[in-house]
Amino acid sequence: MELSQKSLEALNLQVKIEADASHQYLATAAWLENQPGLDGVTEFFYKQSQEEREHMTRFMHYIAMRKGKAIIPALAQPKTEFANLKEVFQLFLNNEQEVTKSINQWVGLALNEGDYIKFQFWQWYLKEQLEEENQASKMLNELSMIGDNRAALYSFDKDIMNVREKVAEDTSAELNHK
Ligand SMILES: [Fe+2]
Ligand SMILES: [Fe+2]
Repeated sequence: MELSQKSLEALNLQVKIEADASHQYLATAAWLENQPGLDGVTEFFYKQSQEEREHMTRFMHYIAMRKGKAIIPALAQPKTEFANLKEVFQLFLNNEQEVTKSINQWVGLALNEGDYIKFQFWQWYLKEQLEEENQASKMLNELSMIGDNRAALYSFDKDIMNVREKVAEDTSAELNHK
């Protein structure tokens, strides 16, 4: 089944969205790396940037497999300065919510076109979005509770990669009724 023009445009727009997300998280990691004592959070955003890049290349491979041409876009200028950690995670959450909206829309398009192969492909992304939104909200909640408590912030930073994995596993388990 050939990709419709509309589908190809949707997939290529998503290539750009993932590329912009990857670039934003890289800029976030660069800012974090200059802050004292935030090694864990820095690692988190470097890893997040890498993952978004993988999301992008996954779309590119998929487009090629469906005999379309992937287009590599110019990137948007990322935000490079932050007032505090809360702002960092708020941007992460807002960005992921926007990405989810966009993916939801494409899932609707795939269903409308009766392209169930593509529908299945998109579903993986919906799960991924749920994981990332859950991670962002959990971390924002924790930061609200931490406030100005430096000892708690120290633990937050030390623990963030474990929390990341745990939220991802819990989300998958919920979706698979495990
Ligand atoms: Fe992504
Ligand atoms: Fe993401």
